Parts: sequence; structure tokens; C-alpha cells
Amino acid sequence: MPEEKCQILIIDLGSQYTDIIRRSLRYLGFHSIITPPEEASRLIKENKFKGIILSGGSASVYDVDAPAIPEEILTVGVPVLGICYGMQWLAYVHDKDTIQKAKEGKSYGPVEVAIKESLLFKGLKNSINAWSSHGDSVKNPPAGFSIIATSKGGMVNEAMECADKKFYAVQFHPEVEQTEDENIILDNFVEKICGCVKDYSRKDAIKEIGENTKKILGEGTAIIGVSGGVDSTTLAAILTPVLGEKLKAFFIDTGGMRKGEVKHVKEIARKAGIKLEIIDKYKEKFIQNIGSTIDAEEKRAKFREVYGEVFKEVAASYGATHMIQGTLATDLIESGSRGKSALIKTHHNVDLDLGLTEIMPLSDFFKFEVREFARMFGLEELLAGRQPFPGPGLYLRVVGVPVNAELLEMVREADHEVAQILKKHSLYDKISQVIVALLGVETVGVKGDGRVYGYSFAVRTVETMDFMTVKGFYLPPKVCEDINSTLVKHPNIVRVMYDFTSKPPATTEFE
Ligand code: XMP
Repeated sequence: MPEEKCQILIIDLGSQYTDIIRRSLRYLGFHSIITPPEEASRLIKENKFKGIILSGGSASVYDVDAPAIPEEILTVGVPVLGICYGMQWLAYVHDKDTIQKAKEGKSYGPVEVAIKESLLFKGLKNSINAWSSHGDSVKNPPAGFSIIATSKGGMVNEAMECADKKFYAVQFHPEVEQTEDENIILDNFVEKICGCVKDYSRKDAIKEIGENTKKILGEGTAIIGVSGGVDSTTLAAILTPVLGEKLKAFFIDTGGMRKGEVKHVKEIARKAGIKLEIIDKYKEKFIQNIGSTIDAEEKRAKFREVYGEVFKEVAASYGATHMIQGTLATDLIESGSRGKSALIKTHHNVDLDLGLTEIMPLSDFFKFEVREFARMFGLEELLAGRQPFPGPGLYLRVVGVPVNAELLEMVREADHEVAQILKKHSLYDKISQVIVALLGVETVGVKGDGRVYGYSFAVRTVETMDFMTVKGFYLPPKVCEDINSTLVKHPNIVRVMYDFTSKPPATTEFE
């Protein structure tokens, strides 16, 4: 959406939650733009915003390099909502003697907030649990402002308003999900106080993603690697009708895929209308390179090396100028590389060194939003029930011996059989990830009438929300028995071990 049609301007003062304010507004049906403070004056002059939100930030108003918010935002006659640092600035700019400097660094965490009557809080209970993260606070409100919320016991002024001028401020973070009824406060601000009308739908977002990418691409040609995961597949589905022949979508079969994976990805692409080229001529190269080491980190390095070379060759064969990535806002926030308000971030890809301009059209969006886009393309059901799978794939799951085509095939078949058994017992969807790894130590077994040496397999089942920590998912003995008897049918497998160790101390992968 062009800036001039946007109703809400968010001034980013350096908070890790700024994107979440924008996402929450989108969820409520309102489009907004995020700007660094230096750009705010220009944008305000050029547009007719109905409201301004000041994000939080890590600075203190006393810092010499505190963000320079233009004071004219107070005189343009639109409502202002200050959040956290935004509240402190709003108090300080009216009266320099209103801020209590932090005594012992910052405090983070939940706070119980007692709420008074205010249009900002309409629909909320008298007391809410909110999320707060701040050092300084407003010790007394400037003239014309009144306190409309305090922490339980009245230690911290949690919100203030100057209803006449429509200036509102909260010390806690109304945008994060740890704050109870988090969307009510933002909704009250944009709808009741600013008088905004809903102007955002998923369809608008999809259109905007396509148009923006097309504009950036100009006369160029873009490549997109489709992994079969929700982000890259959805993005390719969005861009295919807009970019047509200017987009080359491909899937690199590294040889480390699960059984049926390539077929599945082809099927998803077909349903999504993506013209996908499967590139499988480099499988040998991957196996040879990765097979020269047994160290998991070295395997990753070798995998990346070959992947980079292949990607480069593919890009050159298409004469590509741009590379499109399905990176999400969360990925950027987590890696600490979130640019202020950039929808599209352009830089050289350091890892792959392709010399292509990188476009990240989903860099403003969160996982649940991309899942909604996927649903609009009929992809959600196809993608549901797909467990995460590491980029280097089954290469990681041949442990302790050099990988070769035969061992890869053994682990691929075993992985498939275990998945089938778990599906049969209706357990697959309850498990966050199942890992089947070939252990490269041969031990004695008895097959038929003779002693044999054969491999062991580890079956690891875990449950988790985010893979930062995991808990073992304990399989019932009946299911273990089913897995045992199936896997040992292979002439070269003599034992099956179960790994329900938590992370930490283990990691999710068995590598
Ligand atoms: P760990 O073993 O670190 O795994 O607890 C957490 C999650 O990340 C996946 N994983 C990877 N994914 N490339 C990937 O794309 C990798 O090198 C890699 N290593 C681990 C793992 O499968 C689990 O879901």
C-alpha cells in the first residue's frame, strides 16, 4: 500500500517489539508504516496520518544519543500513543522533571497493572497482567496529563493521558502476547481515538508483496530456491503469477532428502501453480564431499560449500540478477539484523557469495501470517504435518562412519518405515520431530542361524514448542516393538535404540 494511504505511523525508537506493533495492527485490520525518527518529519508532511505510535527503545531520555523524535509530532493535531520509551519521551518533552532515572538497571517481566477509566482501556478489566521491560519511568505526569494506570501497589506509573490533546502513553508493552487482552489497547487507540477505518486484509498483503517485489526487480531476473517448506513455497506461489518468466523457481535435490520428499515438493508446486525445476545432477558431488568427514559441523560446512557452488551455477545458467528469499521478520529479529523499516533488504549474500541482490519480500511478516497466506493458496493442508528437517538432511543422520549412497539409502528407508509406523499408531502428529539415525558401530547380532555384524539405529522422538529446549516423547512399548521388528528385517541392522533424552543436555538432532 502506498504510504499516503496509510493511517498510522509507527516511529521506531529501537525496540525489539516495533515489528510486533505493526503485526498486531495488521491482525486488527489496519495497515501502518514504520519509520526511523529521522524520516518522521518528511513522512508527516507528505501524508495524512490519523495517529502516531512511538515504539519502545533501549535508550534513556537522558542519553546524549537518545533518538531524536521531532517535536512537531505534537503539533500536527493527531493522537499520539507512546509505548515504554515513547511514554518517557512524551513526559520528558513536556516537562524535563518528570523522569525517574533507573536505579538498578532494567527490570523485565510481568507486572500487575491497576487500570483507571480511559478511552484507551475501554473493554479491559480493572486489573491486567502486562509485560514490562524498562529502566527509567515517569515519576509524575507533566501538567495537563493524568495517570490512568499504576503497577499494583502504585510503585510505577504505568500509563498516562492528556485526553484533550489525545496524547496517551503506556509504560508496559500492549503489543506483546504476554500482556493480557493485548490487542484491545491498540484497537482502542486506532479505532476509537484515531478514528481509523479498517484498511488491511490478507489479500492486500499478498498484492503488496507481489507489486513491491516486481518494482524492485525491475528489468532483472530472479531465482528462488523452493525447499518445500511453508515460507519459500508460499512466497513462490505469491510471486509466480506476478513475475511470470522473470522468476525461476528451483529445488536442489542434495541426495539427503527423505523418501518421497522430491515427489511431494513437486506435487505441492504443481498445486500452487509454481513452475518448479528439480535440479538433481549434483547429488554425487554432495555425497562425495560430505562423505570425506564424519564430524557434524564439518559436514555442515561441506554441505554449505557444495550448496553455494550449485546455487551459483544455477543462478548463472538463468542469468539471474536477484535472489528471492523467504526470510521472515522473526528470523531477522532473532538474528539481530532487523533493519528499521525496510520492507526489502538488499545486500550481498555473504555465505553464498553469489553477487546477486537479495530480496526478502516476507521480511515484515510472521509465521502465522504466512500460514494464512498459504491457506489462501490451498497450501496449508499440503504443508500440515510436515516435521522440521535439517538443510543437510540425512547426511547428519549417518553417525560415526563416512556417508555413502548405500548408508544414505538405509537411513532413508528406516526413516520412512518409522514414520509410517508412528502414523499407523496416530502418534506422528503428536511428536514435534522424529529422528532416525544410523549408528556407525557394528555390533554382533544373530540372523538366521549365524552370527553377523550389523549396524544399530537410534530412534529419537521429541516434543517441543520452539526447539530451543526439547523433551523426550516416550513411545509405548507396543510401538517400540513394532519399530524393532520392522527395522531389523534389514540384513544389516541388528539393534534399535530409543533416545528420549531432553535438550539440554542432548540436542534435537542425533548427529
Ligand atoms: P538442534 O539439534 O540444534 O536442532 O537442537 C534444532 C532444530 O534445528 C534443526 N537443525 C537444522 N536445520 N540446518 C537446518 O536447516 C542444520 O544444519 C540443522 N541442524 C539442526 C533440527 O532438525 C531441529 O529441528
